[in-house]
Amino acid sequence: MLLSRPPYAPVEFEHLNLLDSAYYAFADPHALWATLREERPVHLCDPGDGREPFWVVTRYEDVTRVLKDHRIFSSRRGTMLCIVDLSMPDIASDDMMPDSDPPRHRRLREPLNRALTPRAIAEHESRVRDIVRSLLRPALDGEPLDMAQAALMFPMAFTGSIMGLPEENWRRMSELTTMTIAYDDPDYSIGSPQATVRQAHHELFAYFRDEVSRRSPSDPGTDLIGILRSMDLDEGPLSERQLMLNCYALLLGANVTTPHVVCTMIEMMGRHPEQFRKVRENPSLRPGCLQEVLRWSSPASHFMRYTTQEVTLRGQRISADQPVSVWLGSANRDERVFDDPFRFDVTRRPNRHVAFGVGPHYCIGAGLANLALRLFLDELLEMFDGVEQVGEVRHLASNFVAGVKNMNVRFTPRKDTDAVPTMEER
Ligand code: HEM
Repeated sequence: MLLSRPPYAPVEFEHLNLLDSAYYAFADPHALWATLREERPVHLCDPGDGREPFWVVTRYEDVTRVLKDHRIFSSRRGTMLCIVDLSMPDIASDDMMPDSDPPRHRRLREPLNRALTPRAIAEHESRVRDIVRSLLRPALDGEPLDMAQAALMFPMAFTGSIMGLPEENWRRMSELTTMTIAYDDPDYSIGSPQATVRQAHHELFAYFRDEVSRRSPSDPGTDLIGILRSMDLDEGPLSERQLMLNCYALLLGANVTTPHVVCTMIEMMGRHPEQFRKVRENPSLRPGCLQEVLRWSSPASHFMRYTTQEVTLRGQRISADQPVSVWLGSANRDERVFDDPFRFDVTRRPNRHVAFGVGPHYCIGAGLANLALRLFLDELLEMFDGVEQVGEVRHLASNFVAGVKNMNVRFTPRKDTDAVPTMEER
């Protein structure tokens, strides 16, 4: 998805199909979102291909209202548009954390939350730093590196180990999770979108089944799968199906988002070298820099809810049982909330972006992602003086993820970085 074109474009609202994955690979959704925010902030989108119409909400204030109010805007019927048939019930309803509402949602979330507190994840810091160094080290020779491809394994390397997944499966799991959200992309599709998603789900669930069955119920371990294995719901321990669904939610959440933030960070370092120089010289700017990269990147483009009752949103009457999609990438560039939103500014204050969502489903992996990305920024600044793009960037065809498939860059190493040890040397 392009992230940097001028913000306005003429829109034919009648023919607008926000489900069209190819649109996000070649066009500029920011131009479209800016027009929607201005002219139709709550718009009923009819894909025109037989699929159910759905509401499109693009202003920050409305997006946050929907995400915070689970009583009116429920997650129980699914939360992603993708290729889902919106008229069908959601098979993961009440069983998978993202597709549940409080109070059941809290039962599923709290034990995992405890394993992902800042103190718990701080234990992983030195390992994640090693992972970042190994990832960036090939660029020290000054040859071009496809950062989009290199970054794909980054979330697997920390989430995979926190979940306790064997390393030999990480590469395939990374591909499979991308297939579920980029089923139309020629580099990921294996036929029809449905066949692509079915194959990805089949393989991922088989991996999770093996992992779950390897754990003894009396001693399931302390990693995230172990925690899921020891959890109880009102009806008793999680079933095998519930375990697999929640493993899937964790891995998908990490894999399809984090790599694209890494690419945005590098792209912005190339475009705004003077800002990144200041960030290097003044470490107190680093947290703000990271939050600005997250706002700019907004890798999860949308999430969805269903209305439980009739509601009026910005003057539009929406009846009960309607799918309502909220567009986070749009909210994060809303000129009503962010001063000069198309300006990248590492000193932006305040910066209440919603890249991690808001409300009860606020990203459970946000602390982990923030840690990993902060370490990435530290090492990037430690190892390199600058970066330049080499050739064209290729964007992912996905209506869910604002992502990059290929981004060749050449780094300028800092003079003293020969001393940086690899993971093996440490
Ligand atoms: C930069 C990286 C990430 C971004 C931008 C991101 C974004 C988001 C957003 C916007 C939501 C809210 C969904 C909703 O409201 O329905 C969410 C939820 C979630 N994320 Fe992340 N995420 C990231 C990293 C991670 C990581 C590392 C993990 C795994 C540890 C993860 C796992 C999840 C899960 C399981 C949920 C559902 C939480 C719930 O339903 O309570 N995410 N994420």
